[in-house]
Amino acid sequence: MKILLISSSPRKEKSQTFLLAKEVLKGCGGKNAECKIVHLRDLKIDFCRHCESCHRKILLCPVKDDAHVVIQKMLEADGIILASPNYINQVTGSMKTLFDRASHFIHCRRLLDKYIAAVVTSGGGQDLEVLEYIKYYAHTCAAQYSGGVSSCAYKVSDKLEEARRLGKRLAANIEEKKVFTEQMKIIEAGKEHFKKIIQLRKNDWKEEYNYWRQKGWL
Ligand SMILES: Cc1cc2nc3c(=O)[nH]c(=O)nc-3n(C[C@H](O)[C@H](O)[C@H](O)COP(=O)(O)O)c2cc1C
Repeated sequence: MKILLISSSPRKEKSQTFLLAKEVLKGCGGKNAECKIVHLRDLKIDFCRHCESCHRKILLCPVKDDAHVVIQKMLEADGIILASPNYINQVTGSMKTLFDRASHFIHCRRLLDKYIAAVVTSGGGQDLEVLEYIKYYAHTCAAQYSGGVSSCAYKVSDKLEEARRLGKRLAANIEEKKVFTEQMKIIEAGKEHFKKIIQLRKNDWKEEYNYWRQKGWL
């Protein structure tokens, strides 16, 4: 199985979030797991310009930077660990910018059959809002959420075991192709919502419309 860890702290190896996320990776462990780490800090990912090129022609983007590298890795992964510090009760701008650049994932449910786990740290303990946002992001892309681990920056060492357990759960969910019934209801509601939009915009977003047809969703 392929696991991708995307870490958005600019502090890279010194990051408390990354420290916790590495434990999740350890938990995924075993010889079956092929793990990759991406530090968004190492990459140049510019803002989405809302030109809609990527909807007309799937993932075609006029902004020539490193976004496609991460997007490709996300498409290849079975499990994605999204690790972000709390920046004003949100993921970092770098992670949000990546999400914006990959909005085709939302239109075409491209993370379907994948599992996402979240890792968040904060200065003051407000982690839940950010975990909830990552869970929401997973569902909008049709991925299931294996869970999250979070901590105050100065208490991360108390959460290492929980992080390893989350990694183990993520790997087990992938292996057994776990179906979370309640989550699938949310994901299916999202599908119905986008079905209408894709049909409405079929003349603009030709390749995305064809993608839906090829999948037999229309
Ligand atoms: C721009 C910025 C915004 C932040 N906003 C919050 C916040 O709203 N709430 C909070 O508890 N901590 C906030 N923090 C603190 C970080 O979330 C915290 O130090 C985190 O553990 C840093 O993670 P890292 O070591 O992985 O970079 C903020 C830090 C920065 C730099």
